Amino acid sequence: MGKTNVKPANGKLGILVVGCGAVSTTFMTGVLMARKGLAKPVGSMTQYDKIRVGRGADKKYLHYGDIVPLAKLEDIVFGTWDVYPQNAYRAAVYAEVLQEKDIYPVRDELEKIVPMKAAFDKNFAKRLDGDHVKDVKTRWEMVEALREDIKRFKKENGCDRAVVVWAASTEIFVPYEERIHGTLEALEKAMKADDREHIAPSMCYAYAALMEQAPFVMGAPNTTIDIPAMWQLAEKTRMPIAGKDFKTGQTLVKSGFAPIIGTRCLGLSGWFSTNILGNRDGLVLDEPANFRTKEVSKLSTLETILQGEEQPDLYGELYHKVRINYYPPRNDNKEGWDNIDIFGWMGYPMQIKINFLCRDSILAAPLVLDLALLSDLAARAGRWGIQRFLGFFLKSPMHDFTQNEQPVNHLFQQYTMLKNAIREMGGYEADEELD
Ligand SMILES: NC(=O)c1ccc[n+]([C@@H]2O[C@H](COP(=O)([O-])OP(=O)(O)OC[C@H]3O[C@@H](n4cnc5c(N)ncnc54)[C@H](O)[C@@H]3O)[C@@H](O)[C@H]2O)c1
Repeated sequence: MGKTNVKPANGKLGILVVGCGAVSTTFMTGVLMARKGLAKPVGSMTQYDKIRVGRGADKKYLHYGDIVPLAKLEDIVFGTWDVYPQNAYRAAVYAEVLQEKDIYPVRDELEKIVPMKAAFDKNFAKRLDGDHVKDVKTRWEMVEALREDIKRFKKENGCDRAVVVWAASTEIFVPYEERIHGTLEALEKAMKADDREHIAPSMCYAYAALMEQAPFVMGAPNTTIDIPAMWQLAEKTRMPIAGKDFKTGQTLVKSGFAPIIGTRCLGLSGWFSTNILGNRDGLVLDEPANFRTKEVSKLSTLETILQGEEQPDLYGELYHKVRINYYPPRNDNKEGWDNIDIFGWMGYPMQIKINFLCRDSILAAPLVLDLALLSDLAARAGRWGIQRFLGFFLKSPMHDFTQNEQPVNHLFQQYTMLKNAIREMGGYEADEELD
């Protein structure tokens, strides 16, 4: 380790995942299997990537854990909440992402991960019918019950620190309203007044986490922490926040592929992205109000990479469309099609087609691990508020929209930000040298 000032990762880290569905159980099973040496955590940057530190004769390529003090997989304890009471073993079997042979060796450990009752409001996800739900009267009571859960979980499991990651269903679209979400004071007032329209259950989880000194990560496209009131709470509690929406399949491809078009000054007239998927996530997203949340997140990617105002000849007329179709036979094995209409010299049109037959939760699981470990690291490094360096893992990176800040969606710019944050926390100089 270099000259890092980050506090060491002593003791146990509780990773509390909201939602005990396909993504969460794939993540937990993979970590438990990796701990036993029975699986490899492929796709995880914190476990595999190496970053160059130093220059010239001093240059070295090191794993993140050799640059900064990261929590070890052995030190993780899992907790969860869900509207269904099944333990993580039964939920993993139900999700049908992993084969029995990849779950069975850690069955005992998974069976001990039993969801706490969810803070839930059916109006935010109409297609879910679970009743393992907290009996609370107001949003403020929801917050208080969740704070108790986090406190109790830490105590019972001897955790020194905790992180809360949302991997629960996408809620209906909650538009930003300045009078409610603009300040912490207004948000707290609305929670106390039980304003169920503007205060989503996810906001109660985030509020409770930050108050209990746990960083909060939003893995779905929900508005939750993407509001000034939550930025103020993160500042007040000195806690990191990151969001939103795990960047897994189609958007990962988009944010890596769009720079090819932009870098070569080719034109783009249209990008049509469509998906079929059949898991519970797909079922929830089949509801128009829930899909709207996802659509806003997925659409935001191209706008900042290929900017019509900067290059009106090339991107001024760009038509971007995203569809998600619920199709049960495919379950978690989503298929994404991208049809990209580009044009070249003198405006002559061409097409590119990308057909990604992916596995949603297999792509998402390493992101949950990386986001949890890196937000815990950020907390120990004294970094609070929006963690822009975690945008690499997210479809719609949070940014201060009240100051007109533009988010960075370009995958390779995001990677530079990630590497530099690790370098800085490790006591090395940030740089943009090519490796
Ligand atoms: N898998 C991916 O590639 C990917 C990518 C980006 C984002 N996401 C998002 O991650 C989330 C999880 O995806 P999934 O495939 O695991 O879905 P899933 O439906 O299998 O699991 C979500 C779980 O959350 C539970 N839940 C819903 N509301 C809750 C609440 N208020 N409190 C506690 N639990 C609640 C549901 O009962 C369900 O068991 C979704 O929002 C999805 O959009 C997934």
